[in-house]
Amino acid sequence: MPAFPVSRPRRLRRTEALRRLVRETRLAPDQLVLPLFVRSGHGVRQNVESMPGVAQTSVDELLRDAERAAKAQVGGVLLFGIPDAKDAIGSSAWDEQGPVQQAVRALKRALPELVVITDVCMCEYTDHGHCGVLRDGTVDNDATLELLAREALSHAQAGADVVAPSDMMDGRVRAIRRELDTQGCPDTAILSYAAKYASVFYGPFRDAAESTPREGDRRGYQMDPANAEEAIREVQLDIDEGADMVMVKPAGPYLDVIARVKRTFNAPLAAYQVSGEFAMIHSAAQRGWLDLDRAMMESLLAIRRAGADMIITYFAVDAAERLR
Ligand code: PBG
Repeated sequence: MPAFPVSRPRRLRRTEALRRLVRETRLAPDQLVLPLFVRSGHGVRQNVESMPGVAQTSVDELLRDAERAAKAQVGGVLLFGIPDAKDAIGSSAWDEQGPVQQAVRALKRALPELVVITDVCMCEYTDHGHCGVLRDGTVDNDATLELLAREALSHAQAGADVVAPSDMMDGRVRAIRRELDTQGCPDTAILSYAAKYASVFYGPFRDAAESTPREGDRRGYQMDPANAEEAIREVQLDIDEGADMVMVKPAGPYLDVIARVKRTFNAPLAAYQVSGEFAMIHSAAQRGWLDLDRAMMESLLAIRRAGADMIITYFAVDAAERLR
């Protein structure tokens, strides 16, 4: 590169047209996935206080939100269920008449083109709020696998395009792949939450999904925020077990992990801009300390620039509508 004054990087920043021409990263609506929280009932819309614009809804209301997302060309939706009843093993997770299963069937009927992804985890369904079954106060990895496989199969049989295990049990991708393949759902894809950190930024979500552990925390199964090399091992394991797509979560505070995973693997990579990242931007904007729209777009662009192919974000519809 010639030195100044021959080199003047500002030449290519002079007009918006020039900036557009040399822009390296783009954000498109179909790279965004909208999380939705579904519960039983009719006409139900319960706003989540710490997440402006986010609500727990019944299936009929969920269809309206999904329609708006589809119209904005959002790439897909990710469903979380809030069951009527919880027990020690989370048995409502594979109830054919559960809120997620009903929502999947309704979505596939009303909006067959929209990609439907379901979150597979036990924490919304267990009365203790942990992501698997407990034995002597800790989550029993191997006993949980069978339950996760059962839950994933029931989502697949309802018509989900993709199942997304978020529990962080070892071996769950293999267990789910095997169950889907032997039970007639070989075409259902798996998006694994491969590098999911034990993060404080899930706080608002746990209000939304009513999944806060009654005792203890998730550090015995989710990853230590200090570790990046371990993320590579986790992603490798999940790809070897049959994951079609992998995820890093949270997104904004873990851009280095996203970049490393992208550099190391060629599987489609998702990043989850989680509830706390969303709530931080909103609360600063509410005080007039940040411009909401610009903070939203910059945060999403940064996640793409780091290497994420798709972004799961509560901003999906707002961002998509701005991009059109
Ligand atoms: C379920 C799950 C969580 C999130 C997604 N799936 C919560 C957790 O692990 O505690 C977090 C999503 C968010 O914060 O937006 N295991």
